[in-house]
Amino acid sequence: TEISTDGYGDYDFIVVSNRLPVDRVADNGSDDGDTWRRSPGGLVTALAPVMAKADGAWVGWHGAPDETLDPFDHDNMHLRPVPLSDSEVELYYEGFSNATLWPLYHDVIAPPEFHRTWWDSYRTVNRRFAEAAAEVAAEGATVWVQDYQLQLVPQLLRKARPDLKIGFFNHIPFPPLEIFAQLPWRRDIIAGLLGADLIGFQRPSDTANFLRCVRRFAGHSVRQQQVHVTDEDGNSYVSRAEAFPISIDVDQITELAHREDIIERSKQIRRELGNPKVILLGVDRLDYTKGISHRLKAYGELLEDGRITVEDASLIQVASPSRERVEQYRLLREEVEGTVGRINGTYDTMGNTAIRYLHHSYPVEEMVALYLASDVMLVTALRDGMNLVAKEYVAARTENSGALVLSEFAGAADQLRQAVLVNPHDIDRLKDAIVSAINMQPREAQRRMRLMRRQVLQNDVERWSQNFLNALRLEGEGEHQ
Ligand code: G6P
Repeated sequence: TEISTDGYGDYDFIVVSNRLPVDRVADNGSDDGDTWRRSPGGLVTALAPVMAKADGAWVGWHGAPDETLDPFDHDNMHLRPVPLSDSEVELYYEGFSNATLWPLYHDVIAPPEFHRTWWDSYRTVNRRFAEAAAEVAAEGATVWVQDYQLQLVPQLLRKARPDLKIGFFNHIPFPPLEIFAQLPWRRDIIAGLLGADLIGFQRPSDTANFLRCVRRFAGHSVRQQQVHVTDEDGNSYVSRAEAFPISIDVDQITELAHREDIIERSKQIRRELGNPKVILLGVDRLDYTKGISHRLKAYGELLEDGRITVEDASLIQVASPSRERVEQYRLLREEVEGTVGRINGTYDTMGNTAIRYLHHSYPVEEMVALYLASDVMLVTALRDGMNLVAKEYVAARTENSGALVLSEFAGAADQLRQAVLVNPHDIDRLKDAIVSAINMQPREAQRRMRLMRRQVLQNDVERWSQNFLNALRLEGEGEHQ
């Protein structure tokens, strides 16, 4: 299980994540081969400045199977692509990461599958990521490992490179002990994570779930949030768990929300939908954790009951394509598109539509135009680590208007207390919540949105990464002994 290393690398700050923070852009005719563009998303925005200052490198998969790429530099970051074979994409990525861990960590909304071949591939690939990180890391460097695809990396790295400072952040929920216990490799995962000096979670409840699993499956002593680890070789150290709720790039969203062309585009969206009195919006990856079916059920019943009509209201549902080769995602797409078709077939008129369904992903400019165009945002996840769409909607509402219906099962519900909070399984209450968001008095909507915006504006993703990295720096320096 050991990884091989060969001396020290050149970089003082390393981020390791399944995906590199760049997308390939279609060949632009230049002869220097591929061109890359920074991917959208808060994580890279928050970390790019840290990278630029600290001689940073990013280790990750570039997204194409069966392709080995040389390391390259891109906007002040050193990128170290990790290759995945076709079969590793199937076993490690689609299999163990997204058909075992993903459903297991999201309250078994879909049944997780346990296959030994998937686990073997997960271990092999985690070793490859750890080796790549060890190769680029200078002596005493800080390495920050991201998310559920790479839970074995901290332990592998610590063994090979005890000089490193290692952080881990789990972007998705950490499940309750009774669910985690199903995993045949539960001890290996816990031991893998405990290789980190600091393990970050979205919510205090994820942290508590993790610490309970540590007590049960690792047998180390746990005091408050500190785990006193003694590894196989008899080395002792402290690994600490803590909640660090992630956020968004607030400046980017608010700047776009003030841009004339984007405001104009938001008006155009309203006109093109036939100027309904109310526009409702859902924006999700097409994933069974997002509660899209529950949302559509509630919406369809409101139309059936006559509490809303297509002349007055329209729902825009953006469902961005995701993990399309995984069985549960195919089934979900069939189900959602069947439901949308039935609702539209029943309630649409020549001039008005019940649901404008878009199976696309859009650039952030169009997303902000959609946020500005919409009176009510619907976030009805059955389980979600955080849900950044909820925070983006709030950040974009620069005039403090609009209402957010938010599932209490999204991590964001811990911060956005003034949303209309719902249990999406309770369809009657969800219907009431949608109607009350539609009918909310402007003064009341303003009061709530102002408080939520204050929360989001004060806690952007840059602050999140600083909080995590400051806490990591203090680990092992006696502050928590
Ligand atoms: C979630 C996960 C990320 C993942 C993203 C997109 O947000 O926490 O780790 O990158 O979904 O999923 P994909 O499988 O396309 O990387």
